[in-house]
Amino acid sequence: MTNPAAPDLDAFWMPFTANRQFKGSPRLLVAARDMHFTSADGRTILDGTSGLWCVNLGHGRQRINDAVARQVRQLDFAPTFQMAHPLPFELAARLIRHMPGDIDHVFFTNSGSESVDTALKIAISYHRVRGEAARTRLIGREKGYHGVGFGGISVGGLGNNRKGFGPLLPGVDHLPHTFDLEHNAFTRGVPDWGVHLADVLERIVALHDASTIAAVIVEPVQGSAGVILPPHGYLQRLREICTKYGILLIFDEVITGFGRLGTPFGAQYFDVQPDIITTAKGITNGAVPMGAVFVRKHIHDAFMNVGTAHDAIELFHGYTYSGHPVACAAALAALDIYEQEGLFTRGTELAPCWEDAAHSLRGEPNVIDIRNIGLVAAVELAPRPDRPGSRAYEVFTRCFERGLLVRHTAETIALSPPLIVERPHIEQIFTTLAEAIRAVG
Ligand SMILES: Cc1ncc(COP(=O)(O)O)c(C=O)c1O
Repeated sequence: MTNPAAPDLDAFWMPFTANRQFKGSPRLLVAARDMHFTSADGRTILDGTSGLWCVNLGHGRQRINDAVARQVRQLDFAPTFQMAHPLPFELAARLIRHMPGDIDHVFFTNSGSESVDTALKIAISYHRVRGEAARTRLIGREKGYHGVGFGGISVGGLGNNRKGFGPLLPGVDHLPHTFDLEHNAFTRGVPDWGVHLADVLERIVALHDASTIAAVIVEPVQGSAGVILPPHGYLQRLREICTKYGILLIFDEVITGFGRLGTPFGAQYFDVQPDIITTAKGITNGAVPMGAVFVRKHIHDAFMNVGTAHDAIELFHGYTYSGHPVACAAALAALDIYEQEGLFTRGTELAPCWEDAAHSLRGEPNVIDIRNIGLVAAVELAPRPDRPGSRAYEVFTRCFERGLLVRHTAETIALSPPLIVERPHIEQIFTTLAEAIRAVG
């Protein structure tokens, strides 16, 4: 029998991984509880990244585990095409209570990528059912990450995720990103400089004409690109311009949703009302794959009041596993925990301590910027001229050797611990990271 701690690594083609490098020196995790993983060699690893921005409630939550086990025994699967079971209705009704403004309907998916593609399709179809079928253009942003579907990479703005995959969707344009070390390096929280970058949307509208544009999609805080924050007033400005021209504003909250910024969703943190919110990850605490797309009342109403026959399908879209019973059970249990333990807002309480700890790394070798918001932080390292990204990768591996999981992308180390993090963990995260940065030199 194969040893589970030392399996044959060959056949699994790993996602977003340097497969040959990894398989030469693998890092395997075999168990997890609360704030920690256990590695295959028996070490305790502090989870500084909530897995992959998803285990917001900490690992191995009994309530979720029990709900999942019960649900598999009771009803493992039921279709939701022209059939249903009670759980997605119950979950949708509970989730919308935490949503800003008049967001009152939910479409379930299985991942962030599916949520994004669903949102883009809803946006284009919304205009069509209202008689504005020419509104098909989608506006994303440089450095944006919206998953890996063709819709998501088309509106996304990370070159490596796009360049290998052909011409992508037609009719897409991009806003400039808001990353600027010259003006904003070492800002605590949201930077002051850069609100004017939102005005580029006016130029894009002038170029294409508003009558061709369906939606603008942005992450309130760009996560995968390395934690890039919106300048003060930037998201408000995007909202104003979208409203002025009848363009839908989509917030991709796959990372910023479910308490990450110290509010239930980023929309509440920034006090900006999007028309559509995409989510995944924290919705089930990562225990079972699930995503969800939230829409405002007028969007759902447009489909229901379209004037077609009562028995006509309003949206030709859906996944076999939309509203899967086991995912719903996990999400309902996760929601109980968010609500009962106050974890939608715990980030607000810890943010000042988190910010101080993050900025204590200023002055360490090669640290050229530190960014933070809610329970997210990023440390930007000076790139090595000959081997871009290698410094951050080495810091990441050293942290792992020293019992800390961080995330590295390009020159950035990103941190986003479970929302149950305590002050000693915060201290351990930044002490270990500082040691690793010094050791890499
Ligand atoms: C903002 C954002 N959108 C979409 C996605 C894609 O989610 P998934 O990997 O579940 O498809 C991610 C994943 O990190 C994300 O950060």
